[in-house]
Order: sequence, then structure tokens, then C-alpha cells
Amino acid sequence: MKKELIKKLEKKEAKMAVLGLGYVGLPLAVVFAEAGFDVIGIDPDASKIDALNKGQSYIPDVEAEVVAKLVKSGKIKATTDFAVLKDVEAVSICVPTPLKKTGDPDMSFIDTATTDLAKYVHEGMVVVLESTTYPGTTREFILPMLTEKSGLTVGKDLFLSFSPERVDPGREDFTTINTPKVLGGITEACTEVACAWYSGAIETVVPVSSTEAAEMSKLLENTFRMINIGLVNELAIMCDRLKVDVWEVIEAAATKPFGFMKFTPGPGLGGHCIPIDPLYLSWKLKSVNYNARFIELASEINTQMPRYVVQKVQDALNFQRKAINGSKVLVLGAAYKPDVNDLRESPALDVIALLAEKGAEVSYHDPYCPSLKAHNGEIMKSVPNLLGAVENSDCVVIITNHSEYEYDAILEKAQLIVDTRNALGKAGRKNEKVFGL
Ligand SMILES: NC(=O)c1ccc[n+]([C@@H]2O[C@H](COP(=O)([O-])OP(=O)(O)OC[C@H]3O[C@@H](n4cnc5c(N)ncnc54)[C@H](O)[C@@H]3O)[C@@H](O)[C@H]2O)c1
Repeated sequence: MKKELIKKLEKKEAKMAVLGLGYVGLPLAVVFAEAGFDVIGIDPDASKIDALNKGQSYIPDVEAEVVAKLVKSGKIKATTDFAVLKDVEAVSICVPTPLKKTGDPDMSFIDTATTDLAKYVHEGMVVVLESTTYPGTTREFILPMLTEKSGLTVGKDLFLSFSPERVDPGREDFTTINTPKVLGGITEACTEVACAWYSGAIETVVPVSSTEAAEMSKLLENTFRMINIGLVNELAIMCDRLKVDVWEVIEAAATKPFGFMKFTPGPGLGGHCIPIDPLYLSWKLKSVNYNARFIELASEINTQMPRYVVQKVQDALNFQRKAINGSKVLVLGAAYKPDVNDLRESPALDVIALLAEKGAEVSYHDPYCPSLKAHNGEIMKSVPNLLGAVENSDCVVIITNHSEYEYDAILEKAQLIVDTRNALGKAGRKNEKVFGL
């Protein structure tokens, strides 16, 4: 069975499916289709399926012309119907892994997708989980769902692995195709089959000895970032107390050619990965009576950054003898990072909510996010005339340093600015009306 399947995968004759066609799944489907595989995308979101079948892309990093070409040639098809899986040999699972309100992992998407997959799982199938999750998920959660009812034997007639996605939305130098992909199977045979499949489309596949090692490697990468961001956020708070310019300190330290990696402070964590994934790890550790202290501490520091920013707005307004209550505050940039339209977990949403709670008249501008849903459920629209709004606001808070903003003009027109990203650079740091972190 293994040899036969590997042969089919190497010849790209195996039919494959991607479950979940979001920021991770759509680029993956495109990369495999471009490599020559016939790909079926499955997603319960009918609007995504409709768009895809019309040859449209809804993910900024995926070029519309590429999708149009692949759909037209029949290399990519999309459906909401899981029954197509009965004729599919290779399945990638790319569904969301958010947190519940209580901060615990929300496994419902993996659960639902695997339940649907289990209805059609068959001999000679290879399955790879891509969603970021706690170590043990593939073996403890997914494996029994796919084998108990079907009676299939893993490593013999079903091949199950984990391969973490490393996509960095907005990045052009490293994309799905040329970012090395770690991959670990339940058995050696599972790793072998999945490597044979993925090597047909991804430039470098890095096999590891188990699903747990692969799951943990992703959590190390994201925890590393989260903790280092927590460290520089605290550095910003410490520098503020000591009246030292944190940006100058970081730039100076970054001239060391070894042993230092530059991270920059900001208004808090955002996106679907860094604020969430390490908490999957700390949750799992609690089940073995271990408290993941670095994660808890960094999370505490990062989570309070929006409050720290609002305090800065209050201090800045106070400097001009104004109260936050009744002041017009314009938030610049709502996406969680520059030059993308992703609002998930964005600290801008927390800053907007906290400012409104204190009575500020809040508006926002973001060229990538024409509207957003505030925490109170209100739909807000990006202000149309940026410089006019800057001029008319008591305070402008730069949350996301999109590269298309004309910072010189913003600096000139604004009455008061809180720059949480050093978007204005030295010119801002020297200017009386600009407050940093
Ligand atoms: N976005 C990133 O930058 C990034 C990077 C690396 C890893 N990841 C991880 O990849 C996973 C997916 O993230 P994403 O950003 O692509 O999420 P996303 O929300 O953009 O896409 C997930 C898709 O899955 C679909 N879906 C939901 N339930 C489903 C089901 N039962 N069956 C099939 N499809 C279903 C949703 O409709 C959605 O289209 C997460 O675990 C995330 O942590 C994300």
C-alpha cells in the first residue's frame, strides 16, 4: 500500500484535498496545483467556494490571475461537499485553531473537519494536519477519530502526519513554496509518505521523528517571538520610566553582528498565531502539572500594552490640558501588522474599545480595512479623508505603520500624536507634540 501510494504521489497522479481555504489553505492549494496536482478545496464557507470557482482570490498574498488560470484549467476545484473525499488520496487540514473565551484551545474546527473526513477515510489515504495546535493533537485527538470506526491501521493503510504552516502574510521573499517545511509522522512510514507528497511541491521538507516534535517545533517558533516581543515591550516601559529613548537603545544593540536579534515594541500582539499559539502550549503543560512561566509572563505584559497605549494618549492630551473624555482620537492603522488587511486579534480593536470606554470620540483610518467590527458590535468605517481627519483630531494614535502613509504630512498636520511604532522615526522622537511608547 505504502509503495503504491508513494508512486502515485511522486507522479502527481494522486488526487488531493485541502480542508479549510483561508490564509494557509488557499496558498497551499495553489502551490500544489501549480506543481501539477489536481486539488479540491473544501470549506463550509460558501462565499469562499463561490469566489474560488469563479477564479477569484480573496487572500491578498494569492494572485488573482494565478487562481483564475488554475481554476480554468481544472487544476483547482472547490466545494462545500465533503463526500468528494471518497475519491481523494491526500488530505491537508488547514482549519482555524482559536482560543475559547476562557483562554483554552478551541478544538471545535479540528473536531468538525476530522469528523467529516472520518466519514470518507479509506485505505491508501495520507492525511497531514497543518493547523497550529498543542503537542499530542495528531496522535491523541485525530488518530483515534480516523482509525477507531474505519478499522484502518496507521502506518500500514492510513498515513497520518503533522506539518506546521509557517506562512507570514504580506511577506514576499519567503512564501509557502520556499519556506522549509517541518514534517513528522505517527510512524516512519507516515513521514515517508507525507514527505514524498510534500516534496513534489515544496522546495525543502524537513522530516522529524514524530508528530509531537513537529507540533512542538511550531510552538517553539511562535513562543520565541511572543516572549521576545514581551521583553521589548517591557523594555519600552522601563525606558519610559528611566527617560531613555527605547528605539535608540534597540537600534544600538542591533549593531551587534552576533548573539542579538532585533525585536521592536508595539501596542500589543495581533494575528491568528503569536497571541494564541503559545497558550495552546501552556494549556497542555497544565495537564501535566507544569506552569509555563515565560509564556504566562510575556502574555501578561503583551496583553496590557493596549492599556499602556491608552494611558499614553491620556498623558499626551493632559500635556495639552485636555481630557480624554470628549476628545477626538483618530487611530491610524487597524490591521495587526503593516500592509495587510488582517484584523484578527489586532490590538487596534482593544485600543479603540478602551478609548471609547473613557469617553473619547474614536475614529480610525486603514487603507487595507475599509470597515471593522468594534468589540461592542458597532461596525466602524475607515474615515475617507485621512489628512482632513488628522487635522481635525485632538490626538492621532499610530497603531499600525502601513508603508503607504505619508508620515511627514501626518506629522505636520496633527495636533498631537502617540506613535506606538516609531513610524515617524527620529523626526517624531524629537518633536514636542509626539509621544512614544
Ligand atoms: N494565518 C497565518 O498567518 C498562519 C500562519 C501559520 C499557521 N497558521 C495556522 O493555520 C491554521 C489556519 O489558519 P488560517 O489563518 O488559514 O485560518 P482562516 O480562518 O483564514 O482559514 C480557515 C478556513 O477553514 C475553514 N473551515 C472552518 N471549519 C472548517 C471545517 N470543518 N472544514 C473545512 N474547513 C473549515 C474556514 O471557513 C476558513 O476558510 C490555524 O491553525 C493557524 O494557527 C496560520
